[in-house]
Amino acid sequence: MSTIKPDNFVLFGDICYSESLKTLRCVEGGFLVCENGRSAGVYGSLPEEYASFPQINHAGKLILPGLVDLHMHAPQFAFRGLGMDFELLDWLESYAFPEEAKYSDTDYARAAYTSLVRHMINGPNTRFCLYATVHVPAALLLMDLLEESGLVCMAGKVNMDRNCPDYLREKSAPRSAEDTRLWLERSAGRYKNVSPILTPRFVPACSDGLMKELALLQKEFRLPVQSHLSESLAEIEWVKQLCPSCRSYAEAYEQYGLFGGEHPSVMAHCVWAGDDEIELIYRNNTYVAHCPQSNMNLSSGIAPMRRFLNRGVKAGLGSDIAGGCHSSIFRAMSDAIQASKLRFRYVKPHEAPLTVNEAFYLGTLGGGSFFGKAGSFETGYEFDALVIDDSTIAAPFPLSAEERLARVIYLSDDRHILQKFVRGRCVKE
Ligand code: GUN
Ligand code: FE
Repeated sequence: MSTIKPDNFVLFGDICYSESLKTLRCVEGGFLVCENGRSAGVYGSLPEEYASFPQINHAGKLILPGLVDLHMHAPQFAFRGLGMDFELLDWLESYAFPEEAKYSDTDYARAAYTSLVRHMINGPNTRFCLYATVHVPAALLLMDLLEESGLVCMAGKVNMDRNCPDYLREKSAPRSAEDTRLWLERSAGRYKNVSPILTPRFVPACSDGLMKELALLQKEFRLPVQSHLSESLAEIEWVKQLCPSCRSYAEAYEQYGLFGGEHPSVMAHCVWAGDDEIELIYRNNTYVAHCPQSNMNLSSGIAPMRRFLNRGVKAGLGSDIAGGCHSSIFRAMSDAIQASKLRFRYVKPHEAPLTVNEAFYLGTLGGGSFFGKAGSFETGYEFDALVIDDSTIAAPFPLSAEERLARVIYLSDDRHILQKFVRGRCVKE
């Protein structure tokens, strides 16, 4: 950890951040002020009132908001890059479930999660929504390690009581709810940067009884929810058979009040959402976690991002480790753009591809807003920042800050990150 205090200081450099989906602001040779862990604004010349703040000179470096990963599975980090010849349901059975079962062993969990958290500190993401496993001790251990890292996370003990192997299945809905209550009570008041998020894995793995129990816990503890929605065609067909009275997959969550509305929820993938489902997502203020790399690896499809954005649906990006094998949300940005171009060219010529600035918005402010005021440098936003040394990807001709940002999105890796701040604290340098 750095010796810089998480209170008042100024970063000087070339600053870029999204003000909205359509507006990117770049200030070359600008001052970004951190006051009490929040941005006090970006200035071309430093206002007198901040002149006494310590200044860190990053002349010639890019300064960007920290990136937000709205969807990843912590236990799956261990096998990323494996099983990539499978589709979703076979991949779950062959890779995800056998690996997740190992987290009943707390020693195994400690070793695996320690290596994951080290990787997370080194990368460009500053905020995460993550899934743990069904196991309460391992979920608490993950939260402890995340808290130590300084990263801001919503983490969930997974619920699953049907249609999965015996070795991982929770034995009944009441048992799953009891364990969830235990996890919530043990984590209460324990963390500053980590908070719990209710995590029914997906409809096929959660009985009606379990959904009802979770809805009660959600109201009692006022919890946000994360889950999966309309990811693969085989999965959607399965949900139709399991929930014949529901008009859409989304309704299978909504009928229990587990789909946004009063409590925020984030649904991963939404690849096959049609008009009705998009409307339900929009009306419930539900977030879409777009996971383009996973959707390609598991041949799930290409999500209709242009339609979500046109309808005003809230959305961000997810790595979906380990459906996606790359954790960096810079990579998710370029994947999102490339996937949208294939959709535009081969599938839906009226759905314009995502632009670089739109993808940057999704990976910062778009996902960041799920955490409140995060993902931008507008005054009052929590101070999550990356200082990027892009000198090794410079061009032999002058580039604007906006052009340098595009190259960082497509070409940078963790070695280009000079410093990383979360809530005003330096977590990597
Ligand atoms: N649907 C249910 N569980 C999972 C998971 O672990 N990964 C992905 N990509 N989809 C899921
Ligand atoms: Fe997932």
